[in-house]
Amino acid sequence: MRHAVRNTGAVVGLAFALAALAISPALAVSLQRFHAARDGQDIEISAPRADILRVRIGRSGLPEDASWAVVDAARTATTPIDVADDGVASVLTTPALQARLNKSTWRLTVVDPAGHTILADTDSGALDFHNGGFRLRKAMPVDAHYFGLGDKTGGLDRRGQAFTLWNTDAFGYGESGDPLYKSIPFVLGADELGHAFGLLLDNTWRGFFDFGKSERDTLSFGAEGGPIDYYVLAGPDAKAVVKQYAWLTGAAPLAPMWALGFQQSRYSYKNEAELRDIADRLRADRIPADVLYMDIDYQDRNRPFTVNPKAYPDLAKLFADLRGMNLRVVMITDLHVADAPNAGYSPYDTGKAGNVFLKNPDCSDYVGLVWPGNAVFPDFSRSSVRDWWGGLYAGFHAAGAAGFWNDMNEPAIFQRRDRTMPLETVHHIEEPGFAARTASHSEMHNVYGMLNSRGTYEGLLKIAPDERPFVLTRASFAGGQRYAATWSGDNSSTWNHLKLSIPQLINLGLSGFGYAGDDIGGYGGSAPSPELLTRWIEIGAFNPIFRDHVATDKPRQEVWVHGLEQEAIRRRYIEERYRLMPYLYSLAEENSRNGMPLMRPVFLEFPDVLAKGWDFGGTMDQFMLGADLLVAPPSAMESPAAYGVRLPGAGWYDYWSGLRLAGAATEEIPALDRMPVFVRPGAIIPRQPLVQSTGETPKGALELAVYPGDSCRGELYLDDGVSFAFQRGAFLRQKVTCASGQGGVTMTFGGREGDFKPWWNGFTIVLHGWTASNATAFLNGLAVNVVRDPRMQTLTIELPDISSLSVLQIGA
Ligand code: GLC
Repeated sequence: MRHAVRNTGAVVGLAFALAALAISPALAVSLQRFHAARDGQDIEISAPRADILRVRIGRSGLPEDASWAVVDAARTATTPIDVADDGVASVLTTPALQARLNKSTWRLTVVDPAGHTILADTDSGALDFHNGGFRLRKAMPVDAHYFGLGDKTGGLDRRGQAFTLWNTDAFGYGESGDPLYKSIPFVLGADELGHAFGLLLDNTWRGFFDFGKSERDTLSFGAEGGPIDYYVLAGPDAKAVVKQYAWLTGAAPLAPMWALGFQQSRYSYKNEAELRDIADRLRADRIPADVLYMDIDYQDRNRPFTVNPKAYPDLAKLFADLRGMNLRVVMITDLHVADAPNAGYSPYDTGKAGNVFLKNPDCSDYVGLVWPGNAVFPDFSRSSVRDWWGGLYAGFHAAGAAGFWNDMNEPAIFQRRDRTMPLETVHHIEEPGFAARTASHSEMHNVYGMLNSRGTYEGLLKIAPDERPFVLTRASFAGGQRYAATWSGDNSSTWNHLKLSIPQLINLGLSGFGYAGDDIGGYGGSAPSPELLTRWIEIGAFNPIFRDHVATDKPRQEVWVHGLEQEAIRRRYIEERYRLMPYLYSLAEENSRNGMPLMRPVFLEFPDVLAKGWDFGGTMDQFMLGADLLVAPPSAMESPAAYGVRLPGAGWYDYWSGLRLAGAATEEIPALDRMPVFVRPGAIIPRQPLVQSTGETPKGALELAVYPGDSCRGELYLDDGVSFAFQRGAFLRQKVTCASGQGGVTMTFGGREGDFKPWWNGFTIVLHGWTASNATAFLNGLAVNVVRDPRMQTLTIELPDISSLSVLQIGA
């Protein structure tokens, strides 16, 4: 077997020569890209950065080097790799990993500098080609667990299951339904020692991931066509993988703060009076809320970008009035354009004039049946078409709509058994970085929804360059977090769907989509019981996106529908979310920097729970909101049986009482009004006075709830919540730490970064876990007043606003 090594980087001639000489390790050569060929196949291995390996394989020449998922700067980056030849294998080394490529079999093994295997091909048959598609096989160690793939059903761990990547309008999907709306070919693997790696297959075709289901101990993945182009992210731990993935595919831009508020939706509030009623009731009942949705019935005959003037006669007035109540409106704008020539329907007319629609193989426009009846479909893989699409938002934006909802973008087609368009439908790729060419729907299907939301996002940015767009999309692909938030589609009003939402949202977060939610209360099925809707709201209050939404044929599902007693419980949880807004918002800001999801599996913060063999951090249902709050819903939510909560380590605090727990586990009785939440010892959590909307400025002091423990820290982040002024310095960032010792606690306030002026007039420090019988406090050496509550074991200290380095010394 011939094995030629060639460098596609700078030192081609040298590498050629060394390959011919069969170099020894001592004669390692530094390359930007390693290239080998055998039997007509080509392989290229590069390291976009030292801890990420990229592998491309082609059957006849390397595949096109282009991507919808990976950002250009990451895809084209290379870091030097030392390449040596030990006779059997080419040995490729970076400071963070080493890859061995067997010269005759091309079996690839990636290890870390300590020799621990990150990811290795199976011993034999590691790559098969069949019918234009391929399957790669990696060994699955017994102690490895797999996460990611977006909101696929099943438990948190993908091990033992297999999934299809094919965006699907999965209305009424069951607890193990697959495929669903999104395809995110990214997996995070973690073993029981806490080693973690990532694997991204950058291929848009119908694909699959099989975690030892069809072949024992084998992780196989592949696609029906397209390039073999995958990345191995070397970790070494799960947080590092999340950051590496964000570096490759981009982090979600910081959302407007209002997107973190409570959102009320329904298919549909059929007219202006209904929508105003909802707004009035939210305010009358003092249910904090930020967003109302307008689903398809506001439109004229379901035609996107039209309004039925009888139902909604004056959008601008409506939106202005609602804004006066601190409520914003998100409008649905599906991507199917009604096939309505000569009807004065401008999306069709301008689209037709610009020849923007997808084609049948005979060059006619492809027509499919969706909500408006026959419809045509924009070709979002042409950047000029995305520009045209983005321009369609000018009118609704000018009227005052705050955000947009891109639904049905798998794309969903009603009349066909496969629920989508024929695979031969013709797309045109006209995109910087890609060769201009036609592409079949087989290739473009899985990215179609993402490109739809990209057109929307980028269009909104052009219309209002200093306003953070909010786009909600149903279908997407790896990297889609750069353009839109998402939700898990048409779930059902069942306890099992509520339970399922937790691993779905956690895995979406690990797959880049930090902003993810589900239809609170359930979309389809029969109406939720009062208890189910209440629990759903309690859990949703700790999810990144918090939207109550329900299908058209179902009864009302707003917070108040089951009477005062249920409403009071629900209100308390929604209020708590608003009190936690400073914490939530700082998580969103962190997500925008490094991809860290807002909602996290426990093992992301506490990798040793994997070693303990816990179900990835306590029960399968536990999750973290940020690094500090652990939410522990009942494990059998509908049953009144007591259940155990396992906490990673001792000394946690009960969030609601603020009291410190004695051990590392508690027994919970699932009273309907209690959602157990615990605080990490060492957390400093900012909370604000209650407001009814993020549009309302809180009054008074910012509370800093301090829960002493190891690595005690908190971070404040604030900006105007809506514009990009934070990129120009109008933000506030401040680190606060605390240390316990010598019978006291010392809090250190760092200096403030940024020049944004906060709303608060001071800090209220609430120190938890104080058991001594007296207390004193000194701010920078000067005594300050302390109020001790022995029953709640708290100290409360009112301070002025502190913006420069300061020390608060608390002692007995
Ligand atoms: C789809 C969406 C759902 C929406 C409906 C009408 O089923 O998933 O959320 O309400 O279409 O637009």
